Amino acid sequence: MKIAVVGAGYVGLVTSTCFASLGNSVTCVDIDEKKIAALKKGKMPIYEPGLEELVRQNLKKKNLSFTTNLKTAVHQSDVIFIAVGTPPKPNGEADLSFVENVARTIAREMTSYKLIVEKSTVPVQTGSWIRDTVMRYCKKNVAFDVASNPEFLREGTAVKDFMNPDRVVLGVDSKRAEKLLTELYKPLKATLVFTDIKSAEIIKHASNSFLAMKISFINAISRICELAKADVEQVATGMGLDRRIGRNFLDAGLGFGGFCFPKDLAAFIRISEKLGYDFELLKAVEKINEDQKKYFVKKIEHALWNVNSKTIAILGLAFKPNTDDMRFAPSLDIIADLQAMGAKIRAYDPHASANAKKTLTKVTFCKDAYEACKGSDCVVILTEWDEFKEINLVKVKKLLAQPVVIDGRNIYDPEEMQKLGFRYFSIGRPTKEKR
Ligand code: UGA
Repeated sequence: MKIAVVGAGYVGLVTSTCFASLGNSVTCVDIDEKKIAALKKGKMPIYEPGLEELVRQNLKKKNLSFTTNLKTAVHQSDVIFIAVGTPPKPNGEADLSFVENVARTIAREMTSYKLIVEKSTVPVQTGSWIRDTVMRYCKKNVAFDVASNPEFLREGTAVKDFMNPDRVVLGVDSKRAEKLLTELYKPLKATLVFTDIKSAEIIKHASNSFLAMKISFINAISRICELAKADVEQVATGMGLDRRIGRNFLDAGLGFGGFCFPKDLAAFIRISEKLGYDFELLKAVEKINEDQKKYFVKKIEHALWNVNSKTIAILGLAFKPNTDDMRFAPSLDIIADLQAMGAKIRAYDPHASANAKKTLTKVTFCKDAYEACKGSDCVVILTEWDEFKEINLVKVKKLLAQPVVIDGRNIYDPEEMQKLGFRYFSIGRPTKEKR
């Protein structure tokens, strides 16, 4: 099939590359000339395991091309995916001006049938807005359909998630759109869920909000566990074995971040409000998440007694492992709070340091975890990269001025840490402190 994907962000880039590797002819469009010039040479704007190799393979096969010219891409394609950004406005609402611009250009340029598929996370009823916009700006009487195909891929495992989805949600309102999308997704052999466009849009919001709710729930339970001297991991295991609950997304930590959950949650609360429903449950999910970050800073303060003038080694800056994405990363808030209290920060992240440097100031960026630990008063784990799980803790202890570890991701075993002679603090697990 001839496909255009508008937007070369996470979703757009992964979608175009994966559709190309499934044998389609894909044009990926973005207004960012620098990004497109780099992509044409196979250079990635983001770190995402497996993506670079796949882009290069498909560029070579000529299944995939990159351009800034949306008009030509519209002429050349039968199916057009809209995967442009929907950034948050100050009130939490999604800014849909990029989506509208793309819809207008498609309308003005199309001369034959097009299936226009929204893939960006958008508020319910955006499909209707796209349809109205295209009808208004279309010069000739050209047939078209609008569909909604929300994306559920996760950063860090994006290619794998796209190629092996739990389900593909397809909101359509015509047989022609249903047929085209069935054909397009056939090679994945996935469960296709056909529904109406509005329900598809809500499935995306409801799914992300539900996952965020699971995380806030277990984080709240972790607080109770600390108060009751119980172990949140044992609780999560016991709960998760119930198939109605499931163990996934029950890892207590220092709060969720990234460009999806915080933004989508705020947007869904706003959408519900506009529709006439006060989604108090989701407001609590947001609040628990904010509190969790603050509580983690308190934990560091408790471990160090006085934070002022202390040197803190931060391991992990990205909002999760296997990505270099720093957008809404909890590390940003936590480091800002520690700096405000007078701490000196030595930080290391395997892939996100370059992006972190754009935002963080007065931080000493180190070449590896050991360099960050050298002479520091404690180590704080903010992202659960594999290399931190496998770190030489004996060496870390020797390098530190004080053997103190505050682990925001529960990557070490409390008993092991105690045996090694660390004062070890984690989330929702009993701390046996020798004083
Ligand atoms: C999330 C969803 O998982 C995807 O399905 C969705 O497509 C995507 O948002 C999106 O809307 O674009 P992503 O933000 O890439 O994906 O990452 P997740 O793996 O979901 O993690 C989000 C945050 O939750 C991270 O900060 C992570 O550390 C945290 N988390 C996750 C926990 O604190 N505990 C958990 O048990 C799981």
